[in-house]
Amino acid sequence: MSSFEDLLADDGRVEPRDEMPDDYRRTLVRQIAQHAHSEIIGMQPEGNWISRAPSLRRKAILMAKVQDEAGHGLYLYAAAETLGVDREDLLDQLHTGRQKYSSIFNYPTLTWADVGAIGWLVDGAAIVNQVPLCRCSYGPYARAMIRVCKEESFHQRQGFEILHTLSHGTPAQRAMAQDAVDRYWWPALMMFGPPDADSPHSEQSMAWGIKRFSNDELRQRFIDMTVPQAEALGLTLPDPELRWNADRGHYDSGPIDFTELFEVIKGNGPCNAQRMAHRVRAHEDGAWVREAASAYAAKHAARTREGAA
Ligand SMILES: [Fe+2]
Ligand SMILES: [Fe+2]
Repeated sequence: MSSFEDLLADDGRVEPRDEMPDDYRRTLVRQIAQHAHSEIIGMQPEGNWISRAPSLRRKAILMAKVQDEAGHGLYLYAAAETLGVDREDLLDQLHTGRQKYSSIFNYPTLTWADVGAIGWLVDGAAIVNQVPLCRCSYGPYARAMIRVCKEESFHQRQGFEILHTLSHGTPAQRAMAQDAVDRYWWPALMMFGPPDADSPHSEQSMAWGIKRFSNDELRQRFIDMTVPQAEALGLTLPDPELRWNADRGHYDSGPIDFTELFEVIKGNGPCNAQRMAHRVRAHEDGAWVREAASAYAAKHAARTREGAA
């Protein structure tokens, strides 16, 4: 047995210098890069509301949240780089459409309540997806997830609190909260990916200890966690078939229309073009910052060399 298989059999962590099969490395690069891209593209729908948040307190909270997402992107690009790829190259693949990001960020944020629905449902689904990744077989990815998950819990709480305030406010505020939940519920469920039967990479990822639970198991966990929270908010989830099933010990739910998800993945979601154009523009506008940082690093390295000589 190779040392890689020994490590997996032992539930150990694979570290950057350990030998690993090429496919394992490639799968991780793809997954971590896609995760990193999702964090930074995810800044856009909410960043859009920072200047319009309804109070100074809400503005400060939202700014902190959006900055956290930038930080998550940075940890994850750094984790991907431990696998021997270059961040510039990953960003280039994002900008040219060769690597993807989560489709959830291709939906628009039409009202302030959407910021609440994103925190509660989208960050909530992200937590359910990411908590098992804290035990992922690749060490740098697993360790990055520990901090990310702590921050996601705060994001989920702030979203819940926004919706709680709105749902206990005026009838118009309550209606705005309900409308946001109506629009974000199904896309949030689709964040767990296609049903297990149509999920091509899942089996291998489970065998490698990258993935610990199937898409449908995680989706069920999210539904079970969210239904009681919706009741606490006094809001309705837009699925008439949602009901407790005592035999299974889980909530039953209605069928998900995955044709919509596949359209959004293909690039036909409401905001795909806008998100990508904004990202490319931000990257170009930031070129001088990267140049200045590299020039500074080169100067600093030269000075250290002189000092050592
Ligand atoms: Fe995040
Ligand atoms: Fe988040």
